[in-house]
Amino acid sequence: DEETNLEERPSVVTIMGHVDHGKTTLLDSIRHTKVTAGEAGGITQHIGAYQVEDKGKKITFLDTPGHAAFTTMRARGAKITDITILVVAADDGVMPQTIEAINHAKAAEVPIIVAVNKMDKEAANPDRVMQELTEHGLVPEAWGGDTIFVPISAIKGDGIDELLEMILLVGEVEEYKANPNRNAVGTVIEAQLDKGRGSVATLLVQNGTLKVGDPIVVGNTFGRVRAMVNDLGRRVKTAGPSTPVEITGLNDVPQAGDRFAVLEDEKSARQVGEARAQLALQAQRSEKSRVSLDNLFE
Ligand code: GTP
Ligand code: NA
Ligand code: MG
Repeated sequence: DEETNLEERPSVVTIMGHVDHGKTTLLDSIRHTKVTAGEAGGITQHIGAYQVEDKGKKITFLDTPGHAAFTTMRARGAKITDITILVVAADDGVMPQTIEAINHAKAAEVPIIVAVNKMDKEAANPDRVMQELTEHGLVPEAWGGDTIFVPISAIKGDGIDELLEMILLVGEVEEYKANPNRNAVGTVIEAQLDKGRGSVATLLVQNGTLKVGDPIVVGNTFGRVRAMVNDLGRRVKTAGPSTPVEITGLNDVPQAGDRFAVLEDEKSARQVGEARAQLALQAQRSEKSRVSLDNLFE
């Protein structure tokens, strides 16, 4: 049954923080540290998410959900993040979007790890960052609280290993689990229309295993998974829990935050997809909120 089939899955991590505090630099730095250059695709990231391996354990990083995407996804009831890394520049301190990020993470009940960035700078003042964050309820362990703070320099790569270690630690405590032996469900990270390939969607598999050929309902559209490409640009046939993967084969372009579910056969997928599209159209007409058949995605 469902309970006994649960297995450990990688943590899904998003990075948030004020503008220019180093979110993108940190994502690049982690990828450079952990993805071996010899791999196919090298360090060129193919989709808006990637996985690294540390001490034999995988961690999934999403780089698309900035604050706006986070809000959109939450508005649709999608919970995709397990852990938020809050990046705060040590020379700048807590700024408006830092506070916004804290509020998002708190509302979503997602644990926060603070990365105090730009420690290489002369003007770095980590004590001030700790003081300011304490005022917002993030009290460092060193001061008797339970928030993990990791000093880093994203640009130099300092503290990256410690940060990954802390992510694994939180993952161990929280025990994120999923059942790889069931039909896949998950959330759309991003999607667009490609001239050659048609509808292209990056999905995060949250439970089950997605396979090439699966009949699938995605938001208000449907199809059959034609091809899958992983974060290194490699063709894959399956994608397990917490794996980001790019798929083709959908009839239409879904939206970020849309949920997806694999159904037993293509006929059901078509019926559900068309019904959802109809309902969405009606809802739009009557200016009601977006229709959800959320029990489908449980
Ligand atoms: P937005 O996406 O625009 O919000 O910015 P961001 O948070 O992604 O910041 P980004 O990574 O673009 O970094 C902003 C600037 O800070 C760039 O010039 C980086 O080179 C610099 N920077 C990032 N990390 C560090 C660091 O550890 N040390 C120093 N000295 N500079 C850094
Ligand atoms: Na920037
Ligand atoms: Mg950026």
